[in-house]
Amino acid sequence: MDSYKRLLLANKAWVHEKLTLSPGFFSDLAKEQKPEFLWIGCSDSRVPAEEITGTQPGEIFTHRNIANLVNHTDFNLLSVLSFAVEHLKVKHVIVCGHYGCGGVKAALSSHRYGVLDEWLRQIKDVYQANRDEISSLVSLDTQADRLVELNVHQQLRNLLKTNIIQKAWHQDARPILHGWAYSMSDGLLKSLCKIEPGSPIEEIYRFDF
Ligand code: CO
Repeated sequence: MDSYKRLLLANKAWVHEKLTLSPGFFSDLAKEQKPEFLWIGCSDSRVPAEEITGTQPGEIFTHRNIANLVNHTDFNLLSVLSFAVEHLKVKHVIVCGHYGCGGVKAALSSHRYGVLDEWLRQIKDVYQANRDEISSLVSLDTQADRLVELNVHQQLRNLLKTNIIQKAWHQDARPILHGWAYSMSDGLLKSLCKIEPGSPIEEIYRFDF
C-alpha cells in the first residue's frame, strides 16, 4: 500500500473512534473554536503539539516553523499571533523548543543550507550573545541543547517586544508567556520560564498605551 493511503485510512478510523465516543464531536467543533493556548513550536515531525500535551482538536492554536522563531518581519507569525491574541483571546502563549533541534544544530555549524541560513541567522545571534557560556560546555550536543534553551528565552523576549502582546497585557492582563523545551529522548516537557502580564519591559521596547 502507498504510504499516503495509510493516512487516509487512519483518518476514517479516527472519525469512527471520535463519533463512537461522542456523536456530536465534529458538529460541535465545527461551530466555533475557543482555544486557550497559542503554541509556537518547531516544524520537527517528532514534536506534535497536541499529542505530547494530551490536548484535543480545538484546544491549541498552532504556529510552527523551523526552530520556533518569533521573527518581527514574519507576517505569517504575526498574523497568527494577532488572531490568537486579539480575536481568540488566548490566555497562554507557549514557545516550545526541543532538545536535538536540527535548526539549532545547523545554526551552530558553518555548513551552508541555502535560504535556511538566513532564517537561522537569529540563532547565531543568540549564540554570539551567550558565547562564553555556551562555548564553555564540553560537547557539541550539550552546547546545542543550551542554545535551544537560550533560543526559547530570546523568542519570548521577541514576543514581549510586539505591539500585539503589550496591547493585550494593557487591555486584558493576558496572555501569560511560557518558554518550554521538549525532550525527544524521554518525551518530557520542561518549563524554562514564564512571563506574567505586567512584567517589566526594557524602556526602548515599551509602547505607550
Ligand atoms: Co527543531
